[in-house]
This record gives sequence, C-alpha cells and structure tokens, in this order.
Amino acid sequence: MTELVTLTIDGVSVSVPPDTTLLKAAQSVGVRIPTICYHEACTANALCRICVVEVEGARMLIPACTAKAAPGMQVHTHTPRVERSRRTILELLASAVDLSEAPEILALIEEYGADTHRYPNTVRRTPPPIDDNPMYLRDYAKCILCWRCVQVCAEDAQYTFAINFGGRGYETHIGTFYDKPMPETTCVFCGQCVGVCPTNALKPRRQWLLEQGQPAEAVIQASGGWRRRRS
Ligand code: SF4
Ligand code: FES
Repeated sequence: MTELVTLTIDGVSVSVPPDTTLLKAAQSVGVRIPTICYHEACTANALCRICVVEVEGARMLIPACTAKAAPGMQVHTHTPRVERSRRTILELLASAVDLSEAPEILALIEEYGADTHRYPNTVRRTPPPIDDNPMYLRDYAKCILCWRCVQVCAEDAQYTFAINFGGRGYETHIGTFYDKPMPETTCVFCGQCVGVCPTNALKPRRQWLLEQGQPAEAVIQASGGWRRRRS
C-alpha cells in the first residue's frame, strides 16, 4: 500500500499520495489557491505564478500548481507576502494585456485589490485581431501567454502542432509557423484552443458575429458555408 505524505496547509494536517501537487493537496481540504495558467486538461508549467504559496524554510515563494507535497511541509497560502506577490502579478498583467474579456482574472483583480493603473501601459501589446479563417478570431492584444492553447494543440490533446511561442522577451507571442494564415497550417479547427483560452483572445467566429449584432441566421450560414467548401 502506498505510503501517504503528511503536511500542513494553513495549519490543517493533510495526507496525500506521493507526487500530489500543493494545489491538489490544498483543494483536498477545501483551501482555494488562485490559478490562471493552470488548466485541468493541460500539463502545469508554472508560467503565471499567481498560485505561489509560502513554505516554511523555503527562501522563495513556490508555485502550488507544480510543487509536490513533501513530508512535514508547512504551507501557508494567504500570507501578506503571498498576497502582495499575487497583487503585483495582476497589476503587471493589467499593464501589458487587455483583460476586458477575462472574467476570472478580473475577479482576482477585485479580490486582491490590485491597482490596474499602478504600472504604465508602456509595454501593452496592441496587435490587431487576426481574422484569417472562418472558424475563430485571434486577438493577441488579449493574450496573457498562458500557453494553454499551445499545449492542447500539441501533446496535451490534439497532436496538431499548428501554433507555438514565437519571439523573445517583449516580442514573445503565440503564432503559427512562419506566421502562415491558419488555413495553411496543420490546424484542423477542432476548437480545443478556443475552449481553454481564459481571456477570449481566441473567440469563435459565431460568438464574435453575434457580439457585432449580426442576426443568428446569418451567423449560422457563415460557418456552415465554409464547412461545405472544405469537404
Ligand atoms: S491565446 Fe489564450 S490560451 Fe493561448 S496563450 Fe494566449 S491567453 Fe493563453
Ligand atoms: S497557476 Fe500556477 S503558475 Fe500559473
């Protein structure tokens, strides 16, 4: 029988199987840790750092979505240091990305009292939406680079590899190989990337047309006609 790992989370003793992440261990005793880049369907990569927690004896804050529970760990999920870190992450995100259609992140901004004007928007990404196929739009001004779309397009689900990170530093972005229009890539328009995007950077064309006030009939015809052309 597998020996359980016992640790404390916010003073509560918890025993979990080996290799359980701190996030899962916390959830098992009803402690909520915020996440942004993490998605149940994707491999955790600890990119956004909103889930950091304080572990006694550790110098750095630790991302709960990837760190594994260890025997005797004493974990604190809502200390002032942790909350300040989360607040800063949210403020930096707000300075760089259009979060207007990211309800979960907007809720966190509210919860942590983040000042969205604390940092100037000097690095704000403002590329125009890419409208190159009949199924979905890509508005990378809203992209937080969480990597979920790339992961589901690759080994986490679809094995299609149509999109990936490109560029470096401030120029980092999600795109297709050689920036080809989506219909010229390996994309099969499965919609998995759209489904996991937390900010509406990826949006179904039907939804977009409805938001533009198009009548439902025209919206249905718009993508149905394309499907007939592809077959
Ligand atoms: S397009 Fe959406 S899912 Fe992909 S990295 Fe950007 S925010 Fe994440
Ligand atoms: S949710 Fe853990 S680093 Fe993003």
